[in-house]
Amino acid sequence: MLLTDEAPMATRADPAFRADVLAGLRLPQKAIPARWFYDRRGSELFEEITALPEYYPTRAETAILHTICPELVGAVGEGVAVVEFGSGSSVKTPIVLNCIEPAAYVPIDISGDFLRSSSATLAKQFPGLPVLPVEADFMKPVPLPAEVADMPKLGFFPGSTIGNMEPQAATTLLAAMRDWLGEGALLLIGIDRIKDTAVLTAAYDDAAGVTAAFNLNLLERINRELNGNVPIDAFVHEARWNDDAARIEMHLKAVRDIRFTIDGHDLSMTAGETIHTENSHKYSDRDARLLLRAGGWTPRQQWCGTDGAFCVILAEARPLPIAP
Ligand code: AVJ
Repeated sequence: MLLTDEAPMATRADPAFRADVLAGLRLPQKAIPARWFYDRRGSELFEEITALPEYYPTRAETAILHTICPELVGAVGEGVAVVEFGSGSSVKTPIVLNCIEPAAYVPIDISGDFLRSSSATLAKQFPGLPVLPVEADFMKPVPLPAEVADMPKLGFFPGSTIGNMEPQAATTLLAAMRDWLGEGALLLIGIDRIKDTAVLTAAYDDAAGVTAAFNLNLLERINRELNGNVPIDAFVHEARWNDDAARIEMHLKAVRDIRFTIDGHDLSMTAGETIHTENSHKYSDRDARLLLRAGGWTPRQQWCGTDGAFCVILAEARPLPIAP
């Protein structure tokens, strides 16, 4: 009894989380990678974000996936293994699985808890479909289950998650996906568009304050898992459009001078200083296609819904051409 009660919180924390936080808070522009948003609470808050009136991407993409099903079946064919980068959402994944009736489904996610619960739900929903979850950071090489080795692959990377990455990292990831899935594989990817700045900023700073809670949860997670005493009431959520980089940035802004400790390390911030917590890059029509081609994927078909706010692109890993 005593032993478990006394186990310090910090020993349960991911050492990579600790390293990223401590290194990130010593940078001139403080920054913490967005992937650390997604503890259980963060994943729940993100699900709430997807239902907000201001947050159009999920609704737009879901509507597109519904309408393209007949075309998608024609383009993808039978017997494929769907490999989803991310643990799958309760809404989008079933649309695709219902539509193309794959031979296997392989969700890859960094959050083991979320992966296991969403995989169990999907397995129940699709009896007879082999659901083969892989717990891994998909920024590193991913071993696909042996069962899918001989199946044609359809990568699925919805939600404009690619937008979280700097273009260089996004290109590296796309190239890695091409390596894992193999030549001839297809990739169905959601990419958000550049649009009116007010629409973009509202999507990341909703009236109900859910995105603010999502952003601030990162500080709560630091306090919970890294034995921190960050004064959360000294921070406000900020969402800005960076036009040069074509991205929405989220920051946590200190509203007064503060000192705090994380895992025994002394840190401080001055009033107005921010921690940069997320980038969400937006792409024009040609930007998106160029990004895919830079990662070794040839765009084949594209669907952008009725208002063109968000696009779903089907791309193919064709043999690399010999330059003329
Ligand atoms: C999950 C990365 C696609 O950038 O739109 C939503 C995350 N952050 N609101 C996005 C997010 C704040 C989302 N992605």
